Amino acid sequence: MNPKDFLSMADLSAAEITDILAIAKRLKARRVPSRALLGKSLGMIFQKPSTRTAVSFAVAMYEMGGLALTLSEQQLQLKRGETLADTARTLSRYLAGIMIRAHRHEDVEILARYADVPVINGLTDKEHPCQVLADLLTVMEAFRVKSPADLKKFHIAYVGDGNNMAQSWMLGAAILGLHFTAACPRGYEPDKDFQIQALRLSKRSGARVAVVEDPREAVAGAHVVYTDVWTSMGQEEEAEKRRDIFRKFQVNESLMEMAHPKAIVLHCLPAHREEEITASVLEGPQSVVFQQAENRLHVQKAVLQKFLGGRSKSS
Ligand code: CP
Ligand code: NVA
Repeated sequence: MNPKDFLSMADLSAAEITDILAIAKRLKARRVPSRALLGKSLGMIFQKPSTRTAVSFAVAMYEMGGLALTLSEQQLQLKRGETLADTARTLSRYLAGIMIRAHRHEDVEILARYADVPVINGLTDKEHPCQVLADLLTVMEAFRVKSPADLKKFHIAYVGDGNNMAQSWMLGAAILGLHFTAACPRGYEPDKDFQIQALRLSKRSGARVAVVEDPREAVAGAHVVYTDVWTSMGQEEEAEKRRDIFRKFQVNESLMEMAHPKAIVLHCLPAHREEEITASVLEGPQSVVFQQAENRLHVQKAVLQKFLGGRSKSS
């Protein structure tokens, strides 16, 4: 059964991920306006800032004949205490789907429970699944493989905070049967729940998913080196403490020497140069971060087609 909502990587099967990436690849190869979502509107609720997610979803809707509405929390009655449940039921009467970037993952689950239309996670404290789909497309392109199943022979290393990115990647790798190692400082690993869920999914797929403490161990021979900020949105008051704790987790030239010579570097962006990644690596020949950012658009189109495409507007 297809899920109504896309809240977690675990909402998709390996076959569905493969399908979305195949659609994204096709749409990227021929970027022409279509009528795939003609007459459909997407509401985009933002409790946090966004550049890539906001613009790629809006442009994706436009290029498929639909409309995207940016709804900051400030402008919605949510700000004045209207409940998520009432917001969800109201918006479902106008929109074909809702994309939300929220502080609390639980709030997105509440919104989805009460919405009659699909809800798409545009980042929460726990997950960022749309980003992982774009990352997968980027890795497939870099290693010239046709399907995510072909990525099984590659080793993906994540270095840094066991945050929303790390958690969605763990699940994605576990679903697809990939080899994924995250190196995180003690106390900053992905949540236990995610580690358990990834282990369970790995048993079925044959994935090798691990969390280690030593970045050099994770990166040794890796084909993909991924990092993200040490201080995510909403954690700003911890920034200084985190800079100390994560110091040894910087993706720099010395760490990159441990990786496979053809390794690529990914970062979901925005990046903090000289913190989680040096400018020389981010701007260097192994970095594909802007191709990765572009792929958000193509993947968003595929996600929107899958989740909004088959449904008519709520009446
Ligand atoms: N990677 C990403 O989601 O970027 P934004 O925060 O700019 O949307
Ligand atoms: N972990 C980062 C990702 C930004 C796209 C954050 O949540 O701020």
